[in-house]
Amino acid sequence: MTKKILILPGDGIGPEIVAEAVKLLEVLRNQFGLAVEMEQGLIGGAAWDAAGHPLPEETLELARAADAVLLGAVGGPKWESLDISVRPEKGLLGIRSALELFANLRPAILYPQLASASALKAEVVAGLDIMIVRELTGGIYFGKPRGIRTLDSGERQGYNTLVYSESEIRRIGRVAFETALKRDRRVTSVDKANVLECTELWREVMEEVARDYPQVVLNHMYVDNAAMQLVRAPKQFDVVVTGNMFGDILSDAAAMLTGSIGMLPSASLDRQGKGMYEPIHGSAPDIAGQGIANPLATILSVAMLLRYSLEEQELAQRIEDAVQQVLGQGLRTADIDSEGCRRVSTEQMGDAVVAALLEQNR
Ligand code: IPM
Ligand code: MG
Repeated sequence: MTKKILILPGDGIGPEIVAEAVKLLEVLRNQFGLAVEMEQGLIGGAAWDAAGHPLPEETLELARAADAVLLGAVGGPKWESLDISVRPEKGLLGIRSALELFANLRPAILYPQLASASALKAEVVAGLDIMIVRELTGGIYFGKPRGIRTLDSGERQGYNTLVYSESEIRRIGRVAFETALKRDRRVTSVDKANVLECTELWREVMEEVARDYPQVVLNHMYVDNAAMQLVRAPKQFDVVVTGNMFGDILSDAAAMLTGSIGMLPSASLDRQGKGMYEPIHGSAPDIAGQGIANPLATILSVAMLLRYSLEEQELAQRIEDAVQQVLGQGLRTADIDSEGCRRVSTEQMGDAVVAALLEQNR
């Protein structure tokens, strides 16, 4: 049966990097027999401009009808003065929430070819392979009450609520332990249980979940220490499970271990494994339209899409191999460039991955 993929390019470099991923999907369809059809939708600032809402109802309907969603990035200075309730980021948060994509998988893998692009010493990051499992539809991102109010004194006060119910913690915990079973069988749960009650509960529930997985070793770490350990000795981690905001921050830090945030894909899954796939980086308005953005995180997101939503393990592997091959040939976008390599544009990088893929098929 033909699978439907909804393509949401979004803002900034979104359309440029997504174009390379679509090119790749078309090659998979035309030359590798992948039964997919693609449709495009609006999200973020682009949707605001065209339809007056960062997440038009039509986009949500398309997303619900699709087997998987591929997203570029949202946001940019153009929309920063809009009310927070209609900013591009609300489109992204809205679709994550509406589709109940609570499990965000963010792998941080160091490709050996990029060891010198990492800000850390090669021996600290060589062989790095971490999976960050970030809770994506709860926590302080969605907690109520929230807002900015004016106190009797006339002073304004901003407030947000960090809230997690047991069931929310348990279901993300299960995803982390199931993921660990297929890897090195270690889970680090990151919290701030010494200060925040909400994460004290988080820790307790993780302990409960761990009882169902005797083969997996669980340890706990405060988020400040986790941030330090990530840059001190990142290879101690296998699976890291944490809440929405800590996961947002730690995954950016983990990205830099791998050389560039332009390399990291992600999958956001619901209970049934339906998912939305996106690079973890943002819309990079400063380089948008220049054709220099790195499309590899988006291309690797296509690999995750094939693996998790379409059960096309082999094609997923082929894409990942093609990416490694291209890096091995010394091709680099600006963000990962180093001495002795060849600087290429977004489009040239996409073409090179396609060429490497076709080469495998010969
Ligand atoms: C991410 C991004 C988003 C987030 C923003 C754009 C709302 O930083 O996916 O990590 O904070 O979740
Ligand atoms: Mg982020």
